[in-house]
Amino acid sequence: MIIAIVAVDRQGAIGKGGTLPWHYSADMKFFRETTTGNACVMGHNTWLTLKKPLQNRLNIVLSRQSQIEPQDAVIVLRNLNSVLSLKKYLGCDLFVMGGEQVYREFLPYIDKWIVTEVPLTVEGADAFVPADYLDEFSRVESKQIEEGLTVGYYERVPT
Ligand SMILES: NC(=O)c1ccc[n+]([C@@H]2O[C@H](COP(=O)([O-])OP(=O)(O)OC[C@H]3O[C@@H](n4cnc5c(N)ncnc54)[C@H](OP(=O)(O)O)[C@@H]3O)[C@@H](O)[C@H]2O)c1
Repeated sequence: MIIAIVAVDRQGAIGKGGTLPWHYSADMKFFRETTTGNACVMGHNTWLTLKKPLQNRLNIVLSRQSQIEPQDAVIVLRNLNSVLSLKKYLGCDLFVMGGEQVYREFLPYIDKWIVTEVPLTVEGADAFVPADYLDEFSRVESKQIEEGLTVGYYERVPT
């Protein structure tokens, strides 16, 4: 399954100045627990926000031009189709973990969204989820995590 995972403010913001505009350790823990043992695809800008590769996950970094030093459990792919081809051979889920460009490009291929609702309105945000990102999805579940955060689960509505 291709699952997008994101934390979104009240107005769809996900980033500011190239980073996350908040820090919730409960959400980081939720992200780690949800994605561990699977593959995570991210754009090069999001890769730059990590201090090191995500542990116990295959890190797939999308980049048309950047060079990344070879390291364990990190692969660089040059286009979306290469990620979709690789997915066929992975015996695990593929988590789409942003940022804005990557969520937008993967939207037609996403089976499920996992959305942490951040109870903030970030002034000056410059990265957002696509405005219509949940249009073809319905909310199937929600749960509370720590720090007063709610996570919504959305599945694609069969057409
Ligand atoms: N709230 C959240 O859950 C969340 C999650 C993740 C990220 N974020 C935030 O989102 C922001 C970053 O988003 P962004 O849109 O600027 O960047 P991004 O999507 O992380 O990365 C964009 C880069 O990825 C590469 N890329 C994208 N599509 C590609 C494709 N089809 N084929 C090959 N390479 C491709 C390109 O890299 P090259 O230029 O190297 O070619 C492009 O410049 C940051 O503020 C970050 O903190 C938030």
